[in-house]
Order: sequence, then C-alpha cells, then structure tokens
Amino acid sequence: MGSQIAKVIESKNQKYQMGQLVFCQIGWRSHSIINPNNLTERDSMPTFYMLPDFGSLSPSLGLGVLGMPGNTALFGFLNICDPKPGETVVISGAAGAVGCHVGQIAKNLGCYVIGFAGTDEKVKWLKDVLKFDATYNYKTKDVTVALQEAAPHGVDCYFDNVGGELSSAVIYRMKNRGRISVCGSISSYNSNPKELPKVPLLQPAIIFKQLKIEGFIVSRWGEKWMDGIQQNLNLIKEGKLIHPEHITAGFENLPEAFMGMLRGDNIGKALVKV
Ligand SMILES: NC(=O)c1ccc[n+]([C@@H]2O[C@H](COP(=O)([O-])OP(=O)(O)OC[C@H]3O[C@@H](n4cnc5c(N)ncnc54)[C@H](OP(=O)(O)O)[C@@H]3O)[C@@H](O)[C@H]2O)c1
Repeated sequence: MGSQIAKVIESKNQKYQMGQLVFCQIGWRSHSIINPNNLTERDSMPTFYMLPDFGSLSPSLGLGVLGMPGNTALFGFLNICDPKPGETVVISGAAGAVGCHVGQIAKNLGCYVIGFAGTDEKVKWLKDVLKFDATYNYKTKDVTVALQEAAPHGVDCYFDNVGGELSSAVIYRMKNRGRISVCGSISSYNSNPKELPKVPLLQPAIIFKQLKIEGFIVSRWGEKWMDGIQQNLNLIKEGKLIHPEHITAGFENLPEAFMGMLRGDNIGKALVKV
C-alpha cells in the first residue's frame, strides 16, 4: 500500500479545489481519479484527507512525521510502553522513520535511550544529532553485550521495529514488568515463509520477568489521527522533533527506493518525489 501527497488538478467535488494538496492511500500511481466518498477506511484510519496547514514546512512531511509513521511512533510508543522519565528505553530500527521519532519522544520525556541501527553512519547520527544516550550497529556488535554495557540494570521499555534475534536478545535484558511495543518485524519481511528464521524461546523471559508484550496496527488510533498530526506538528515547532527524509527522484525509481528502504539505505522517512 503506497500513500502519497497529491495535488488536485481537476475537481467536480466542491470540497476539493484545484491546487489543493491531499493525502491519499491509493498505491503507486502518477495520476488518479478518486471519489473520496467511495474509498474504504481501515478501522477508522482516514485514507483520504486535505493536508492540514503545515505552515512553511514541506508537505512531504504528511507522509512521514506528520502522517502515518508519526502517529505510529506517538501512539504506539506512549500508549503501549507507557514510558516514565528516567526509564531505559531500547529502540530497534532506530534510525528509520518510526524509530528516530520514538527515540526523540523518549528523550523529550527524560528517558535513557538506546538505539540499534544497521550502519556506523546511522549510529553516529543517532548519538550526535538526536542525542541518544547509547547507540550500536547491530550488524557488528553483539546485542546482549551492548545491553550489558548500556543497560546493566535492564530495560524498562522496548519499541520493536524489527523482530527476530535482535529482539529476542533485548527481551532477555528486560526488567521485571517491562513493556514491549511490537510495531514491526522487518527482519523477516523478506524471508521465505517456509524457512522462517528460528529465534530463542521467549516464554521464560516473558513469564519470569512478567513482561507485557503488545502488537498494534496504527489504524487503532484512527479516531485521533488529526490530533496526532497536530501533536507532532507542535513538537516540530517547539524544536523537539527532527524529521529527516531520504528522497529518491522519479516515479520510475519507486521499486528501487522501496528495496533500498528494506536494505537500510534510509535515515528517516523513505520517500519518492514524482
Ligand atoms: N504497526 C504499525 O501500524 C506500523 C506502522 C508503520 C510502520 N510499521 C513497521 O515499523 C517498522 C519501521 O517502519 P519505518 O517506516 O520506520 O521503516 P524504516 O525504519 O524507515 O525503514 C526500514 C529500516 O529497517 C531496517 N532493517 C531492514 N532489515 C532489517 C533487519 N533484518 N534487521 C533489523 N533492521 C532491519 C533498515 O535499517 P538498518 O540500517 O537499521 O538495518 C531500514 O532502514 C517496519 O517494520 C514497519 O513495517 C508498523
């Protein structure tokens, strides 16, 4: 499902005027004819709306920090992890659109934030620019050893974008009554379904540490969609939320951009400018 920010170039619907920018979840298309009344919603998540006024900010943010990934970070972290100031928060996929946003919310709250990402450049950026407290390249550093160093007393909250072995290692370093928000499982998206990677048994950690693990789909907070966008917009205006974009030019490069995102080419939100 591709989402896009599009410009209305012709309209027979008085609500939508020529030149207006709209968000729409209609796949990878250069042009579309849409009757907004006929679009189906997932739960109550809006699939078509006029872009709110972002002031001088780029409308492209409506696909990232001021759109679905932004609401995923805001609602999925605060509602499920319920983080408190001073707590230790771990984020996987930390340099991606959702992960870097979660980390900044956690820092703003006064948490101790540990991020895992897949290149030294990302790890440096998380530390130097976003001021994460500890950051590691999960491809070159053993995750258990990293957490023994950075979180010797354990982890209170884990925001999981990737799943797999990295997540199993984090789950075994959780504190009693730790909270885990399961947002994504990208480590297995490209796996052969008949040969899924094996990961360590998790039940002992879940039981004896009395963990709360909850998966979510962001459409769950569809009723609060615009409120989430406004909250994130306020954070940007207050200088509390950096929102990098990784932009590929050209409609014809969509597949390459998509595969690049899965490979880890992006810092922040991966976008295609058509
Ligand atoms: N539950 C929901 O409603 C919801 C909503 C939005 C997104 N999501 C999920 O949230 C996750 C993050 O989304 P996003 O839009 O912010 O994507 P993203 O993090 O911007 O991009 C994906 C990143 O995943 C990392 N990655 C790829 N393969 C990996 C592997 N085997 N192990 C660890 N990391 C790997 C790559 O970075 P590295 O260089 O660090 O490897 C890549 O840059 C995704 O899993 C997505 O499906 C869920």
